[in-house]
Amino acid sequence: MHDSILNTLSVEHEHLFYLMREVENAPSIYQRNDFYNQIKNEIVPHMRGEELTIYEKLRHDIADKKALELSQASDRDHHKIREYMQKLELLALESDEWMSTFKQFRRFTEDHCRAEEKDLFPTAKDDFSEVELEEIAYEFEEAKHH
Ligand SMILES: [Fe+2]
Repeated sequence: MHDSILNTLSVEHEHLFYLMREVENAPSIYQRNDFYNQIKNEIVPHMRGEELTIYEKLRHDIADKKALELSQASDRDHHKIREYMQKLELLALESDEWMSTFKQFRRFTEDHCRAEEKDLFPTAKDDFSEVELEEIAYEFEEAKHH
């Protein structure tokens, strides 16, 4: 499947949505911490992988002006997501402020992922060849683990 990388990324988004719901519904602070750590373990490599592969390729997609804008908008979103996480690190996990910040982080992250699925992934699918998408898939897995 030539667009399987786009499917992989969407599946990873769904898993993040699941973990974010679990953080909000966690019956104890211990479980809240556990689910939040799982989010960090998934979202950090996911973002790095996207930035180094699909965003990078869209940035150089000179045949399509929209591609550069989409890539830059997604980069800005990732910056904001990292800022939310830095803010969460400084707050006490059991505090109300932590949870209200987490809810903002969750809403922002969900909107970002939905926007990617609606605009950025279809642009990649239209503009890149089957071989290019396969390269992105390979490089994404490499980038995640570095
Ligand atoms: Fe993503």
